[in-house]
Amino acid sequence: MLHCLLRRGCSPLLCLCLWTLLLPLVSLHQLDQHGRRSHSVRERPKLLLVSFDGFRCDYIDRVPTPNFNILIREGVMVEHVENAYITKTLPNHYSLVTGLYAETHGIVANEMYDPALNRSFSMETDSIYDSRWWEEAVPLWVTVQKAGGRSGAAMWPGSDVKIHGMFPNKYLPYNASVSFESRVERVIEWFSAPKEEAVDFGVLYWEEPDESGHKYGPQSSFMDRVIVEIDEKLGFLINELKKAGLYEKVNLIVTSDHGMTQLFADNIIELDEYVERDLYTWVDKSPVVGILPKEGKLDEVYNKLVDANPNMMVYKKEEIPEHFHYRHNVRIMPIIIEAKEGWTIVQNRSGPFMLGNHGYDNTLHSMQPVFVARGPAFRQNYVTTSMHSVDLYPLMCHILSIPPRPNNGSLLNVKDLLYPEPTAPAPTIPPRVQEYSYAPVVGSFLGVVMVLGFLVVYIRQVTLRQLPSLKHRSREMSQPLLQEDLHL
Ligand SMILES: *[C@@H]1O[C@H](CO)[C@@H](O)[C@H](O)[C@H]1NC(C)=O
Ligand SMILES: *[C@@H]1O[C@H](CO)[C@@H](O)[C@H](O)[C@H]1NC(C)=O
Ligand SMILES: *[C@@H]1O[C@H](CO)[C@@H](O)[C@H](O)[C@H]1NC(C)=O
Ligand SMILES: *[C@@H]1O[C@H](CO)[C@@H](O)[C@H](O)[C@H]1NC(C)=O
Ligand SMILES: [Zn+2]
Repeated sequence: MLHCLLRRGCSPLLCLCLWTLLLPLVSLHQLDQHGRRSHSVRERPKLLLVSFDGFRCDYIDRVPTPNFNILIREGVMVEHVENAYITKTLPNHYSLVTGLYAETHGIVANEMYDPALNRSFSMETDSIYDSRWWEEAVPLWVTVQKAGGRSGAAMWPGSDVKIHGMFPNKYLPYNASVSFESRVERVIEWFSAPKEEAVDFGVLYWEEPDESGHKYGPQSSFMDRVIVEIDEKLGFLINELKKAGLYEKVNLIVTSDHGMTQLFADNIIELDEYVERDLYTWVDKSPVVGILPKEGKLDEVYNKLVDANPNMMVYKKEEIPEHFHYRHNVRIMPIIIEAKEGWTIVQNRSGPFMLGNHGYDNTLHSMQPVFVARGPAFRQNYVTTSMHSVDLYPLMCHILSIPPRPNNGSLLNVKDLLYPEPTAPAPTIPPRVQEYSYAPVVGSFLGVVMVLGFLVVYIRQVTLRQLPSLKHRSREMSQPLLQEDLHL
C-alpha cells in the first residue's frame, strides 16, 4: 500500500507524516510479541494450589464426591500422577512447588541427616525452620515474588520458613489446630485484597485424609466418612470462592503429595534380627529407611542386611534404581532399605503400629495422588491418563506467565490440560525476531486505511474551504493531491 503511494509520487512530506502516525502502532505490536500483557487489557492470572495430604487417586471412586465431580466436569482430571520418590510428605510437597526430584531440591525425607552440616532435620523439631535445608531449591512463591507478583501460603510445608531471604507475602505460621475453614477464609482474603495487595499465587494445605489413613488404614470403612468430609471441605472452598467472586477468575488445582496403602500386623521386618544397633544410626523411618553405618561399618551392615529378608530391598546409595532419581545428595544415606508394599520396617516390635502408610515405590498405584483442576486456563470436562507430579511446576509457571527455573518437569506433557492460547506465546519461549505474525500486517493495514481516510477527509475539507480564496494561486498546485484522492 505504502509502496503504491510512493510509486505514484506522493510527496515526501505526506510519507513522513504517515510513518510518524504508523510508528506507534508498529512498536505496540512488537511489545505484544515479546509476551508482555497489558494490565489494562488483562488481569494478572490467579492460581490456587490445594493439597489434601495423603489423598490417594482412587478415593474419589469409593464414595460419592459431588464436589470433586464438579471440578472434573468443569475442568480437568489426571488419572495417574506419578509422584516423586520417596513418596513422603515433605519431599513431595517441595517437588510440587519446585518441579524437582528430591535429590535435587534437597528435602530428601521427613527425617534427614546432613553430614556436611552435621545437623539433623525432623518434622517434630524446630530444625525445619533452618533455611539451609530448603535452599538447594527455590519454591514457586519466591519465584513469583521475584518476578513482581504476590503470593500467599496457608500451612504449606516450608512456607513459613525464610527461604532465600523471603517468606510468602502472606502466610500462616504452621499450626495444626487451625481449621480448614479458617485457612480458606484467610486465603480468600488474600486473593480479594485491593489490586496492589492481592496475591496472584496461593498454596493451601490440609492434614487429612493422611492422618486417618495412617490410623485406620485405607481399606477401613472409616475412611469412607473421612473422604466424604474432605469432599465437603472442597465444597466449602468452592462456595467461598464463589461468594468472593473469585470462582471464575482463579485457577484452582486440587492434588496431594502421595497416596496410602494398607499395612498388616504380620508384615513386619525387625532389623534387630539381622544387624546390631550399635553398627548404624537409623535416620529415616519405614517404609524407606535411611541407614547411616558407623565409621568403617558400611560393608558389614550392608552384608548383614542385603539378603536378610525377601520383603525388603537393600541398596547401597549408588545402586538405587535410576528411575527413582534418588542418589545424588549427601542427605541420602549410604544404605537405604525399601519395604515391599504393605510391609513395615522396625528395629523391634515395641513401637506403635500404624494401619496405613506411604513412602513406597512411586510407581505403585496406591502411592499416587489425586489431581483435578478448574479455571480460566483449563479445558472443561477433560480427563487424561498420566503426568508426573514434577510437571505441575512448569504448568503453574505457564499459567502465571512467569519463567520457570530449571526443573525436572515437562510443560509439553501437561499442556493438553490447558486451553490453547495461540495469540499469547508462552513466556518460556524466547521471542524469535523473525517470527511471522498476521497481527502487525493487519495492524499496519488498518493504520494505513485510517490515516489515508483521515487525510482524504481533511484534504477535502481544506481544499473546499480554500477554494474560494485560491483565485490568485495556480489551480495546478492542488490538482495532484485531488487526483490522488480519486485513485484511493
Ligand atoms: C557433630 O555434632 C555433634 C553434636 O551435635 C558433635 O558431638 C560432633 O562432634 C559433630 N561431628 C563433627 C564431625 O563435627
Ligand atoms: C493454634 O491455633 C489454635 C486455634 O486457632 C489457637 O488456639 C492456638 O493458640 C494456636 N497456637 C499457636 C502457637 O499459635
Ligand atoms: C525394643 O527396643 C526398645 C528401644 O527402642 C527397648 O527398650 C526394648 O527393650 C526392645 N525390646 C526387645 C524385646 O528387644
Ligand atoms: C533435574 O533438574 C535439575 C535442574 O535442571 C538438574 O540439575 C538435574 O540433573 C535434573 N535431574 C534429572 C534426573 O534429570
Ligand atoms: Zn503421612
